[in-house]
Amino acid sequence: MPRKIFVTTALPYANGPLHIGHIVDQLYGDIWVRFQRMQGHEVHFVCAGDTHGAPIMLRAEAEGISPEALIARVGAEHDADWRAFLMSYDHWHSTHSPENVALSQDIYKKLKAAKLIVSKEVEQFFDPVKGMFLPDRYIKGECPKCAARDQYGDSCENCGAVYAPTDLKNPYSALTGAKPVLKKSEHFFFKLSDKKCVQFLQEWTKETPLQTEVVNKLAEWLADDKETGGKKINDWDISRDAPYFGIEIPDAPGKYFYVWLDAPVGYLASLKAYFESGKARANGEKRSFDEFMADDDVEQYHFIGKDIVYFHTLFWPAMLKFAGRKVPNNVFVHGFITFNSEKMSKSRGTGVSPHHYIKLGLNPEWMRYYIAAKLNDKVEDLDFNPDDFIARVNSDLIGKYVNIASRAAGFISKKFDGKLGKPQLPKEIAREFAGAADEISGYYDGREYGKAIRKIMTLADLANQYVDTNKPWELAKKEGSEAELLTVCSTAVAMFRDLTVYLAPVLPQLAATAGVMFNFDAFDWKTAAKPLKEGHEIKPYKHLMGRIDSKQIDALLEPAATDANKKTETAKADAKPANGEAHVAVAAEFALVPPEPPKPVIIQPIAETISIDDFARLDLRVAKILDAELVVEADKLLRLTLDLGIEQRTVFAGIRSAYRPKDLVGRYTVMVANLAPRKMRFGESQGMVLAAGDGTGIYLLAPDAGAVPGMRIK
Ligand code: 2FM
Ligand code: ZN
Repeated sequence: MPRKIFVTTALPYANGPLHIGHIVDQLYGDIWVRFQRMQGHEVHFVCAGDTHGAPIMLRAEAEGISPEALIARVGAEHDADWRAFLMSYDHWHSTHSPENVALSQDIYKKLKAAKLIVSKEVEQFFDPVKGMFLPDRYIKGECPKCAARDQYGDSCENCGAVYAPTDLKNPYSALTGAKPVLKKSEHFFFKLSDKKCVQFLQEWTKETPLQTEVVNKLAEWLADDKETGGKKINDWDISRDAPYFGIEIPDAPGKYFYVWLDAPVGYLASLKAYFESGKARANGEKRSFDEFMADDDVEQYHFIGKDIVYFHTLFWPAMLKFAGRKVPNNVFVHGFITFNSEKMSKSRGTGVSPHHYIKLGLNPEWMRYYIAAKLNDKVEDLDFNPDDFIARVNSDLIGKYVNIASRAAGFISKKFDGKLGKPQLPKEIAREFAGAADEISGYYDGREYGKAIRKIMTLADLANQYVDTNKPWELAKKEGSEAELLTVCSTAVAMFRDLTVYLAPVLPQLAATAGVMFNFDAFDWKTAAKPLKEGHEIKPYKHLMGRIDSKQIDALLEPAATDANKKTETAKADAKPANGEAHVAVAAEFALVPPEPPKPVIIQPIAETISIDDFARLDLRVAKILDAELVVEADKLLRLTLDLGIEQRTVFAGIRSAYRPKDLVGRYTVMVANLAPRKMRFGESQGMVLAAGDGTGIYLLAPDAGAVPGMRIK
C-alpha cells in the first residue's frame, strides 16, 4: 500500500541569503523524499519563507523598504537557490500569508479554549529612542560575571555565563546606543508546564522513534526540578508588543505572535496553499487539506537542524495536540556543517555560500553528492573539507561511477548500432548486485545516506574491476571478438543502470540525463530489478559530468571582499526563546557569520534653532536613482543619475562604503535640489542625496511607498 507522507524542512528566515546549513537541511529532506517517491508513495514536500520577527522588521527599515518588499526580494533569491540545488519541493510558501494567519489564529484560539494560554505582566527593557521593547540580542552591556564589555543580553561570549538582560551592567540598546528603561507590558504564555502538556510530551517522546540524542535532550528538558519540586520546563512567552512584523493576536490589539509561534504553523499553511492550488492530486482528485490532515494514515515528518530541536519537539507537538490536530510522526535532526572542523566564516574564506557556488557555475550535484556522503541518522556535525570534496567527487563520482558508462557505451553506439546484447554478470557480482537493492533502500529509508553511497561505490568498484578484467578496448581491436565485446559492454551498461537508479535520490539531474541517454526509468526503484533485454536501444554517449578543478574551489572560498558581503545575517537574533530558556543551543553557530546587531550610535546634540523660513529655503525633492556607478578616481564616491520628474541630475555621493551600485538602481531617495552645483575632478555634482550616519554607517533616506520623483518634501 502506498504511504501518504507529508514532509517539511526548516523554514529559512526571509532576510538573508540561504547559507550552506540550509542546503544541508533541505538535502537531508529532499533525498528522503525522492527515495520515498521512487517507492511509489504519495509524498507532499513543502517549505516556506519564515518572514516575521523583529530582525526582519529592522532590516527592512535599515534598507528603507517595507518588510513586505524585503521578504518578497529575499524570497525570490531563496527560490532561485533551492531550485538550483535541485530540491524537489511541491510548494514553497510564506508565513506572511492568509493561510498562515488563519491557521495560527485558529490554533491559538483552540489553545486558549483548552485553558493553556495565560497572561502575565512582564517587565522588559524598552528602547526609549526607538520606542520598542528590545529582544535580548539587541541589548548589550557588561557581563555580570566577568565584566567583559559589549556582551549580549542573554549570554556572555567571554565566560559563557547565561543570564537575563536585566542582569547586565551598564546596558545599552544595540539599535540606538540609548540606555534602555524597564517597562511593564502584558504578555501571553503557552502553559507548557501544565501537567497535561508535560504528560503528553512524555508520552509522545516514548511512542515516537526519535533519535537517541533527541530523546536524551527531551528527558533533560522534561525532568523534575529538584529545587522547586515541579517541572524544569517553563511556560512559553508567545506574544510581542508593537511595533512588530507578525500576525496579530486575536482580541489583543497591539500584540503579535512571537515569530516562533507562527513559523511551524507555516508548514501547514504551505501544505494548505499547495492543496488549494489544485496541483496536489490523488487518483485524479484534488487533495483536500482538512481531509488529508484528519486522515490517521497520513504521516508527518519534519527535517531540522539541531539548533531548533526545542521548538520542534516541545512547543510544536504540544501546540498541535491541544489544538486538536495531527502531531508529528517524527522529527529528523542533523548536525551543523563545519569547515575543516571549524565554524564557517565568510570573512576568513571558510564559508561556502550556496549562491556564490551556483554563480561560479559549479555543479550542484557535486555538492549534493559530497554532503549526502556525510549524512547519517545521527545528530552529528559534518565537515566540509575542500581537498576531500575534490577527491570524492573526482575519484568516486566521476572516476568510479560515470567512468563505467563512458568506458562501455561508446562501443555500443559505434559498433553495434546502439543496441545492447544480453548482459551476463559473473555470478559473484550478480549476487552482490541482487542483495544490494534492499540494503541500499534500508539505508535511504533510515537516513543513512553515507552508508548508501558507500555501498553504491563498492558496487561501482566491482563494475570497474569487471571492465578492467575484460578490457573492452582490447576486444575492440581483436578480430572475431565482437560477440564478447557486446556482452562485456552490455553487462557494464546494466550495472551502470542499477547504480544510476540507486543514486537517483542524490543525483536527480544526472539520473535524468542518463535515463534519457540509456533509455531507462531512473526514478522507479523497481527498474533496477528488471533485467535489461537484448536489443535495448541506447543513444550515443555524451559525457555525463565534468571534474572539479581546484581553481574553482579557490574562487569559491575567496574571503568576502565587499562590505555588502560582510553584512551578517541577524535573523537568528530573534530565535532565542524567552528568558530562562537560554539553555537551548541556538542559532549563532548555524549562521555563516555570527549575528551582529549594528554598532551603538552616538547621538549628537541638536543643532542651533532655525526658523521655518530658513527651512523653506531648502528645496528637498523625491528622486529616483536611474543609474549608479563607481567613480574610478574616488574610492568613496558613487556617481548617481537621478530622475527629478522634470529633469535628470548627476550627483556624486559619498556612500560607496555602504552600497553596491546595482542595489541602488530603481530606489527612491531624497535630494537637495537647489544646492549650488559643485565642480569636481570627474564632473559636476548637481545636488546632494540625503543619508543618516554618524561615522559608523550610512543609511540613505527613502520616502514611503507612493511618492513620485519630483515631489517636494515639506
Ligand atoms: O531557525 C530558523 O532558521 C528558523 N527560521 C526555522 C523555522 S522552522 C519552522 F519552525 F518554521
Ligand atoms: Zn562573562
